[in-house]
Amino acid sequence: MQSRLEPDLAGDALRAPSESTPRPDGADSTSSPSAEDSQHLASLSIPDWSRERCRRFWDPSRQLLKSIRDYQRGRSRGLRGILPAKLAVLRHRFWSLVTGADIPLNTWALGGGLVLPHPNGVVIHPETTIGPNCIVFQQVTLGTGPRPGVPRLGANVNIGPGAKVLGGVVVGDHARIGANAVVIRDVPAGTTAVGVPAVVKQRRPREVGRAPVRALESVRTLPDRDRSSTG
Ligand SMILES: CC(C)(COP(=O)(O)OP(=O)(O)OC[C@H]1O[C@@H](n2cnc3c(N)ncnc32)[C@H](O)[C@@H]1OP(=O)(O)O)[C@@H](O)C(=O)NCCC(=O)NCCS
Repeated sequence: MQSRLEPDLAGDALRAPSESTPRPDGADSTSSPSAEDSQHLASLSIPDWSRERCRRFWDPSRQLLKSIRDYQRGRSRGLRGILPAKLAVLRHRFWSLVTGADIPLNTWALGGGLVLPHPNGVVIHPETTIGPNCIVFQQVTLGTGPRPGVPRLGANVNIGPGAKVLGGVVVGDHARIGANAVVIRDVPAGTTAVGVPAVVKQRRPREVGRAPVRALESVRTLPDRDRSSTG
């Protein structure tokens, strides 16, 4: 089954889902979410485990996550789980070497549906809480910082490449952290934080992805004579 979010990963992974879906009535979808948007946002809080399923043997980021999941499942099974857990430790060492990521086996609060598109250099403190369906890009650090404690991420949080989230900060559901941001204060749900230190930014109003469609439509409406001269 293909995840509803998967196409986002290739293109604009850090865009909130409601933005890419224009409302049928043409109203501003950012001001008051429609019932459909609310339903979609709620569905993003349910872990989508298909996002973690290994598609082939050489699937480093998903294999790494699988080794962590298998280890934790083994540990929860008592004596029956000892052997699977030990095997998972070996697999975890191998995939950690391959990916260059440091996500300890005892990171217990990793929400399901986590996606690491390019896992190299991802470092996560074992006590970090990550909600369901988050996306964490390369070179991200989630660890201790100026404020006591470690980060707590809500559902469907997207963290751009190179970002650092440090200390006991809370990042709300559906928030986005820009590339290379250093987050040392809380980020409210549904907002975007960028910069060093990170501040919450208003997004520029624009319709991402509509421009090429409009250009194509304008060519289609040209008279034949003009159309031939555009090619
Ligand atoms: C965070 C991000 C999603 C914001 O996108 P957005 O909501 O469309 O934001 P905008 O482009 O409208 O920018 C809003 C403001 O934030 C600033 N900004 C955006 N991203 C920034 C970043 N990473 N660092 C610093 N400032 C940033 C813009 O300059 C703009 O500032 P201004 O209001 O003073 O002009 C995007 O900038 C980003 O970091 N994307 C990462 C994409 C990615 O992961 N690529 C790698 C894939 S391998």
